[in-house]
This record gives sequence, C-alpha cells and structure tokens, in this order.
Amino acid sequence: MTEYSAGPEQIPMGRRQLLSLLTGGAIAATTAAVLYPVVLYFIPPASGGAGEGVAAKDAAGNDIAVDKLLADHQPGERILALGLDVSGGDATYVVINDQKQIDNFGINAVCTHLGCVVPWDNGSKSFKCPCHGSQYSEDGGLVKGPAPQPLALVKAEVKDNKIIFSPWTGQDTRCTDLYCVKEPWWKA
Ligand code: FES
Repeated sequence: MTEYSAGPEQIPMGRRQLLSLLTGGAIAATTAAVLYPVVLYFIPPASGGAGEGVAAKDAAGNDIAVDKLLADHQPGERILALGLDVSGGDATYVVINDQKQIDNFGINAVCTHLGCVVPWDNGSKSFKCPCHGSQYSEDGGLVKGPAPQPLALVKAEVKDNKIIFSPWTGQDTRCTDLYCVKEPWWKA
C-alpha cells in the first residue's frame, strides 16, 4: 500500500503543507484580484497630482504638436484632446485664442450633468451636450441646464512644442446667470 492511497487524514505532512499552501495561495490571489480595483479607486492617478502635468495627446495617443495644431485650426476654435482627468474623464479641449495662440487654460469636456462628452459647436461658439441639452459658453461657463455646474478647467502651457495640462490652482472667474461660484467645484 502506498502512502498516497488513503484518505486525507493519512496524507503525509509534506504533501499536506503543499496543498495547504496552494489553497492559501488561491484564496490570497482571489482576494487580491477582488481588492485590487477597490484599492486603485482610492489612489489618485499620478497624472492628476498637485503640480504634475501631462502632455495633450491626440486620439492616437501621440503628443499634439503646437505648430501643426495652429497651422490646421483657426482662432477661437476648441480642439478635443486627451488630457487630465479632473472630473470623471480626461477628454479636454485645447483653447486657441483670438490671437491664434494656445490659451493658458483647457476645458474638460465631461458634461457636469451625467458625464457625456460635450462637443464644441464652432458656429455658435458654444459647447452643446447632445444627451440632455445642456449648454456651455466658449470658456465652459454654464448657460443652460440641466447640468448643475460649468465644465471643469485645467491649466495649459506650451513647452517644447507640446501642450502641458496641469491641475487648476486658481479661482473660477466665469460667471453666468446660472452659476457664479469662485471656488472651483471640481477641486472639492
Ligand atoms: S449629460 Fe449633458 S445634459 Fe445630460
């Protein structure tokens, strides 16, 4: 009779420890798999940390070149890019000002109602949400609900022909009939 042909109570100590380790490892791995996204949820993204910046990227994930962007677009346009996630998504508009320069702020494109990405309407110079009709001014100020707040802002600066977005540190000076609060809501 071999030592492995009997019931569990007769499994030799070495094998019993191995089974125990494997069982414990499986439980630990399962627990880690469940908890990992929960833990990640509570860790702020590196790109959103205070003082940090990210380069604006196009839909293919490449850094946007400022000289090409300015050559391809007109003063007053808002160009959708990938930037900082400050209010539920990283879609961010680059602002080309009337002097055909990159302005010193970017506008987060996530609607403050239920999170749709809000398209820019160059004809009316406003952002119009296709989901429930909210509208925002050309700087993202709230002009029509049901959205409760203006679009979030980020800082923007040009470095080495790239656009660097970083967290907004100032007040919100946009003021409309629907919303006029200087403390940025997205910093809460
Ligand atoms: S998600 Fe934009 S108006 Fe509802």
